[in-house]
Amino acid sequence: MFEAKVYSERRRKLKNQVGTGLILIPGNTEAAMNYPANTYHFRQDSDFLYFFGLDHPDLAGVMDVDDDRDYLFGNDVDMDDIIWMGPQPALKDRAHEVGVEQTAPYHKLDEKIRDAVSKGRKIHILPPYRGKNILKLSSLLGNDYVEIKEMISEKLIRATVKLRSVKEEVEIKEIEQAMDVAYKMHTTAMKMAKPGIIENEIAGTIEGIALVEGNGVSFPIILTINGQTLHNHYHGNTLSVGRMMVTDAGAESALHYASDITRTVPVGGKFNQRQKEIYEIVLKANTEPIKSIKPGITNKSLHLMAAEIIGSGLKDLGLMKGNIKEAVNQGAHALFFPHGLGHMMGLDIHDMEGLGEDYVGYNEEVKRSDQFGLAFLRLGKKLERGFVITIEPGIYFIPALIDQWKREKKFMDFINYDKVETYKDFGGIRIEDDILVTATGYRVLGKPIPKTVEEVEGIIVG
Ligand code: GLY
Ligand code: MN
Repeated sequence: MFEAKVYSERRRKLKNQVGTGLILIPGNTEAAMNYPANTYHFRQDSDFLYFFGLDHPDLAGVMDVDDDRDYLFGNDVDMDDIIWMGPQPALKDRAHEVGVEQTAPYHKLDEKIRDAVSKGRKIHILPPYRGKNILKLSSLLGNDYVEIKEMISEKLIRATVKLRSVKEEVEIKEIEQAMDVAYKMHTTAMKMAKPGIIENEIAGTIEGIALVEGNGVSFPIILTINGQTLHNHYHGNTLSVGRMMVTDAGAESALHYASDITRTVPVGGKFNQRQKEIYEIVLKANTEPIKSIKPGITNKSLHLMAAEIIGSGLKDLGLMKGNIKEAVNQGAHALFFPHGLGHMMGLDIHDMEGLGEDYVGYNEEVKRSDQFGLAFLRLGKKLERGFVITIEPGIYFIPALIDQWKREKKFMDFINYDKVETYKDFGGIRIEDDILVTATGYRVLGKPIPKTVEEVEGIIVG
């Protein structure tokens, strides 16, 4: 945990921004896997971690903005708990560690909230995403669970996003710890990318590294020789020369901060000509936007820069044609690059996505596009000092999408379908780094993981 004052200060700022009412942040409960006592690995809610820091189930935090007091609701353990889980700190001591002095048994939460509701006070809640918390909130607020959406406080969302978007020094250190683990995961995966091995052997090994070195993975590992499927979680293929292996994986630090890195390598360690050509384009679409990162630049412009690099590179190879600026303007490049350049990262790998992507990534100045491809850009607005973002361009040959666009005769002026047909067995390439926006520019976080053709070929053979 960070020092108590980190959490007190965050809560103070939040209360200032929210202005009045009661802020309710329920922590997560255990989630049953196949029967109640057999649970998934516990993951605390990220907003609860941010404001109340405690990594235990069955807690709820309340900030009373009007009397400037913070409360922690939870239960002390009984003898049964001690027998099964060992001794646990008292609720009071836990609360003290995060600067909260007012504690009460969990059932008192109902009283606190119902009392406030009966007095007509505003209760601020964030969008819940787990069934148990939705039901709990609907019982506390006296609403049907389907109406809970209407109770969500936009003011609290905006204030939370404002705070969580700008990372503190202590948070950067945590992210860097998660980056150290990612370094080990990715360099290990690269060295294992030999013909004959099954994806599962590599995925299992690097998930093990995340568990040994950190707090497990920050999202289910994507590791596949079918990288054209963007979030491919099937790990049953055998690697063979001629295929490329996409590994999109990261770890959680001790305090649950994420890393999120993607590397793509040729099985066996040697790029063939076709692979090298496509790889160099993706690499440029990764390194050039990174060089332009600084406060004030919009992430949308970085996305479009990557799209143009991809379009121009594919034109040089004869896969695209015509005026590439215009092709990107109309969205033709999205046949090959159908996702966004990146997203915020922090306590969540897609940071704060549960609060609503548009609150996190867009504003009055930069609105989300509805164009295929660009519409999936999670972060479009201007970058600010302290943001941590990913830059993750890719080129994919998705046979079903190619067939559909060809059938519909889409963008015939920009796409050379005859040539594209010959790449349908290629797969996909993505390269992703995590970057801190500094006062004057950027810092790529973590120890550099092999990325150039020479570096990648060097690590696999070596
Ligand atoms: N690393 C997976 C994603 O960003 O969606
Ligand atoms: Mn990512």
